[in-house]
Amino acid sequence: MAREVYVEGRFVSEDQATVSVFDRGLLFGDSIYEVTAVIDGRLIDNDLHLARLERSLGELEIPMPLSPEAIVEVQTQLIARNRLREGVIYLQISRGIADRNFGYAQDIKPTFFAFTQARDIRDTAALREGIRVAIVDDQRWARRDIKTTMLLAQVQAKHAAAQRDCKEAWLVEDGFVTEGASSTAYIVTADNRIVTRANSRAILPGCTRRAVIKVADQLGLTVDQSRFTVEEARNASEAFLTSASSLVTPVIEIAGHAIGDGKPGPVTRLLQKTYLDLALGSPAPVQ
Ligand code: PDD
Repeated sequence: MAREVYVEGRFVSEDQATVSVFDRGLLFGDSIYEVTAVIDGRLIDNDLHLARLERSLGELEIPMPLSPEAIVEVQTQLIARNRLREGVIYLQISRGIADRNFGYAQDIKPTFFAFTQARDIRDTAALREGIRVAIVDDQRWARRDIKTTMLLAQVQAKHAAAQRDCKEAWLVEDGFVTEGASSTAYIVTADNRIVTRANSRAILPGCTRRAVIKVADQLGLTVDQSRFTVEEARNASEAFLTSASSLVTPVIEIAGHAIGDGKPGPVTRLLQKTYLDLALGSPAPVQ
């Protein structure tokens, strides 16, 4: 069965879905996106993703193409039409279509499309066994808090990581880890502090990060929102990463160096389980 995707107000078969060559998302990366996980046919942390989508658009002065409620309706339709039980929903909104010029008119109409990707989210080897990450220079622009589709630096970082047999790249600037190429980075210190960089323009404010920090607080774990170096990461007792599609994934090796005993650690396991239970157990997102 061909996938049904949403493009410009209509649900169409994926082989009928087209976007103009003059779309500014294609020509300039002048577009933003969101990825929401779907488990058991339910959207996970979706309110947080839609709030970030609205913020990203606001920062670029691109109008919301639909209300948040109407976007949820599109997502719900995509889940139903594609009988999606587990996977992700991708949303992309560009500034719109116009002949190629750097400057743009204020009244240009945004292009909005969305599609599903069926894939295992809850039961993967990465979640069970942990992953290796590579260390790669952070070559991105200065507004990483906006979730734009300008992802070439991330594509290259992930490719470099894959060549080193690693599933993710941790990006490094001035000796400090900013975040993963498509995830938030954390370490757990010997005295059981969870350390992850504070939100700023240097990183994307992860929705899973926000939910997991809330879970950690509820569990009475200390979260230290500050920078950590590659050296501190190598000496950590545990490491993990979060994202919509990878949930809480243990990191067992950084740049060829085993973390702790080279197996997923107890703090990571506790967060992994509690986050998933809460995300699935209650329809409301963790505030
Ligand atoms: N990436 N940092 C970056 C650079 C990201 O691209 C992502 C998400 C995150 C985690 O954010 P969240 O927890 O809201 O998913 C952090 C998505 C999954 C992607 O690009 O596919």
